[in-house]
Formats: sequence, C-alpha cells, structure tokens
Amino acid sequence: MSIKVNYNNMMSTVIGDKGITESEYASYAKFAKAAHAKVEEGRGNAMQGWMDSPYNQSDVVKRIKATAARIRKSCDYFVVLGIGGSALGPIAVFTALKHLYYNDLPKRVRKGPKFYVLDNVDPERMNALFDVIDVEKTVFNVITKSGATGETMSQYLIVMDMLTKRLGDKAKDHIIATTSEFKGNLIKLAQKEGFETFYIPEGVGGRFSELSPVGLLPAAVVGINISELLKGARDMDKKCKKGDLWRNPALAIATLQYISIKSGKNIGVIMPYADSLKYIADWYAQLWAESLGKEVDNDGNTVNVGQTPVKALGVTDQHSQVQLYNEGPYDKVIAFIEVGGFRSDVTIPDGCKEFPDVNFLCGHSLGELMNSELFATRYTLTQYHRANYTIYLDTVDEYHIGALLYLMQLQTAYAGAMLNIDAYNQPGVEGGKNATYALFGRQGYEAKAEEIRSAKPDDEKYII
Ligand code: PA5
Repeated sequence: MSIKVNYNNMMSTVIGDKGITESEYASYAKFAKAAHAKVEEGRGNAMQGWMDSPYNQSDVVKRIKATAARIRKSCDYFVVLGIGGSALGPIAVFTALKHLYYNDLPKRVRKGPKFYVLDNVDPERMNALFDVIDVEKTVFNVITKSGATGETMSQYLIVMDMLTKRLGDKAKDHIIATTSEFKGNLIKLAQKEGFETFYIPEGVGGRFSELSPVGLLPAAVVGINISELLKGARDMDKKCKKGDLWRNPALAIATLQYISIKSGKNIGVIMPYADSLKYIADWYAQLWAESLGKEVDNDGNTVNVGQTPVKALGVTDQHSQVQLYNEGPYDKVIAFIEVGGFRSDVTIPDGCKEFPDVNFLCGHSLGELMNSELFATRYTLTQYHRANYTIYLDTVDEYHIGALLYLMQLQTAYAGAMLNIDAYNQPGVEGGKNATYALFGRQGYEAKAEEIRSAKPDDEKYII
C-alpha cells in the first residue's frame, strides 16, 4: 500500500500557534479510539453496510463483469442517469482511471462505449446529449437508491419514452436499473418492464456507494479493473483496523480535522495536484458535507456542526484561490493530494536560450513542474502558518483509487462518530425535495403547497 498521510504541517512545531501541539494531539488518543470502536461496532449494520462492500460482492462482481463485457462489445454509448451519490462516484472513478479525453479516442483504442453521466435536469444538457448519442446504440444505467429521486426519475421517463417510440418492446434492453431491492418505484418499474437490475444493499447510502454496483458497473463498462478497486479498499480497511491515532491514517485525519473544527477552521479545502483526481475532490466534497453538516447530534442537542468542503485543483487554482488561503482568515485546513508519478509525462523542450526567464523551464517535465509547484505552494502556505496536510498516492491506478475512496469514507465515519452525529442521513436535503414535490402537485404534499402559496412574497424594495 503506497498511500501515506503527512500531517507535519498541521503541527505547532511547524506552523506555530496556529497548529496543534503534540501533547494536545496525544490527549485525543482515547477519544479517537472510542470513535474508532463505535464505527467498528456498527460495521455491516444499519447504514454501515458500505464497510462490507470490499468483502461481500464476489457474486455480484462476476455478474457486473459479464454485463460489462456484453455492453463493451455491443454498445457505442453508456449513459449514467443519477444524481448526488449515484453520480459523483462514477464520474470521479472514470476521470481518475481513464484517458482524460476518453470519449474523443477512436473506438479501437477505447475498446468500449463512450461514457456520459447526466447528473442534472438542465434541459439544454439533456438535449445536447441526445445530439451526440444514438439511443439505439446506448445503454442507460438508471441509478437511484431510493428509486424515487425526482431528477433521476424525470430523466428515466424521458429516455424510456424516447426508446419506446423508437424501439417498441426492445426498449427494455437499453436500460439497466441500479436500485434498492425493496424500496421505491424504480424496482417496481424494473420488474414490470423487465430491466436488468443490480441491487444497492440497504446499508449502503448514496455517498458511500461507489464501491457497490452503483460505481462498479459503470467502471467495469469503461474497462476499469473493479477487482483491484475492491482490493485497494480491503487493504486500506486492514491498515485502519486499529483505533490507534498514530497508525491509522483515516483516524489521524478525522482527529486533526475534529481539533481544527473546534478551533474555528470551518473550511476544509481538498486540492489534488492531478487533473485525473479533479472529480475525486467533488465526490469527497459531497461525502464530507452531507455526512457531517448536521443540525442535531445523536442526543437531540442542536449543534449545527460541519466543515465546509472547498474543491480546488492544483496548479490551476493557485492562480485563483491560493492568495486567499495564504493571507485570508485562519479558517481553513488545506488537504493536498499528491501523486508520485504521472502515467505519462511531457518534457518542456529547449528553444528560448536568449530569454533566461523562460529558459529555466526547459529540459524539465510538466510532471516535475506540477509537483514542484505543489511543493512550493505547500511550503509557502506553511510559511504563512496555514494548517495543511498531504495525502500521498504513489500512483493513480485502480488499487490506489479504491484505497483512497475507502480512506475518505472511513475518515468521514470516524469524524461523524467524534461529532456524535448521524453521518448517514440528510434531513437538510429533504426540505428542498418536499418543496419541489409540492410545486409539482405531487399527491400527499398539499399542505406544503399551501404553506408555499401563503408564504410572504419578496419585498420589492430589496429587488433592484
Ligand atoms: O448520499 C446520499 O444519500 C444522497 O446524496 C443521494 O445519493 C442522492 O440524493 C440521490 O439519491 P438516490 O440514489 O436515492 O436517487
């Protein structure tokens, strides 16, 4: 396992009184151990089914591989319809592990279908997708754990209608449903229409579902080795088996973040230095935000906790965000993701000897430049006494991505236990969903519709 967490720059020995002293950190050992024990106690139960995902899927993995092989041979396009946890993981893993211009490669190089994820209901994007795919050569993977999410079900209805008009009875062969076996409408529709179906285990919530069929089927379809993803996750799980803050990297991050949140660092920047990991930051932002941002704790106290995740990309955002990180308020922890090596590199050629201010670049590679800029940004942040840590990945491959996802899931679960909140619910999202249902006249939401109708209208004086 070549994933390491370096948190030197969180410590007061490096960043002075903005950092954490060793004795303060050590004083959290028992607390961290208890959070670890609580998470371990829940392993496999209730909404912690995701902790079993690396171990209990050999049958479904076989079936996913067989389905993926068939799709790779017979289809030109594979489209995921989903949102939130049902879309961010597939996007993140695809971008991390496939060619960065995968869809533009010729078919003989791709060896599989073009890949799209429709994770919004923007009509222009939906129409744009239909401009570039041929639905008759497409498989649509409808992913929704609840089987009820309005956005995903709207997409499904549009696609199913189009397929039926074009293909009649054969429409069903172009849809794969990934959903709960027991709940929601998608499973009922799947049974009625005869769609091929993969189940999301009950104990696996959306944002913890990338290593379930939610993520594994799309990954396998584009040719990602899903067994290696799961192996990486398993090995990370083993690495985090003990509740020892000095050895368990996920527990170390959760503890450092917990201490930081307590001292007012309410923003957690995640900044990979690799384009391939850009969407891992998006996936992580949902995991961290939706899991930890809670109004009440497990004892019913109003706590309004959480840490706002901010996605940034090195080096791009050095020219956008880093001024603020260096000189703005001391309210952030910056987590870098560093990769040991890029899968391909480009040498900056000679050609500017007469301009020494440009010539210094020549002969170096872009990979070297990227990692030197990471070093320089981290060094400067540290000079500014800004709390930061680095997750170091030897290489970006299936094994390390599986391990990284699992590390982040564990870190979030530990942080949830430390904050004494339910990391697996999202009551704050329901308000908006219910209001939308009411606006659309859904049965059972009449009272909400009435409440919205009788709400005080906007005051004209504040509209200019
Ligand atoms: O993490 C979660 O549970 C949510 O973000 C869901 O993934 C999101 O709301 C989509 O839900 P569903 O998969 O039920 O359509």
